Amino acid sequence: MIENIYIYNKITNNKLFKKELNFMQHGSYTVYDHSIYVAKTCVKIAKKLNLNVDYNSLVKGALLHDYFLYDWHDNDEIGKLHGFVHPKIAMNNAKKDFGLTEKEENMILSHMFPMGKSIPKSKESILLCLVDKYCATKETISGNKIVEILKKANAKLTPYSLFILTLIPSCFL
Ligand SMILES: [Fe+2]
Ligand SMILES: [Fe+2]
Repeated sequence: MIENIYIYNKITNNKLFKKELNFMQHGSYTVYDHSIYVAKTCVKIAKKLNLNVDYNSLVKGALLHDYFLYDWHDNDEIGKLHGFVHPKIAMNNAKKDFGLTEKEENMILSHMFPMGKSIPKSKESILLCLVDKYCATKETISGNKIVEILKKANAKLTPYSLFILTLIPSCFL
């Protein structure tokens, strides 16, 4: 259970980390939700595969990997470069507010690999890099309203209900 890991409670209850609640990430997920989802998935996979990792660093790096603290959707200046610049911004912010080991710095800096210049140098970094992509994809798909509507319709998908769905103007989705 991730809740048994001291650093998880320490960071998620910190008011500075809670600033992530103000910024959207993918779909309807805030950066805060995304970071917790990534940290929980990292721990789940590490335990399932019985990986010999440093759980404190794994959780800390995963929780803080997107601690860039701005809304990249609204930010014209950073917007297009966000994918390239946010690991460095997040690492500097996290270092200032929470302190980081060298391993945790590399986790944050390399989480967008192969984008950017940093290469994952530890098991924790590689795991974070893969899990972040998996979670981002799941969040983006689950934020797609057409998919949500189709899911809610579930077994009741008939040619008739599909026809009705096609009539919903895309501006309402
Ligand atoms: Fe990121
Ligand atoms: Fe992320």
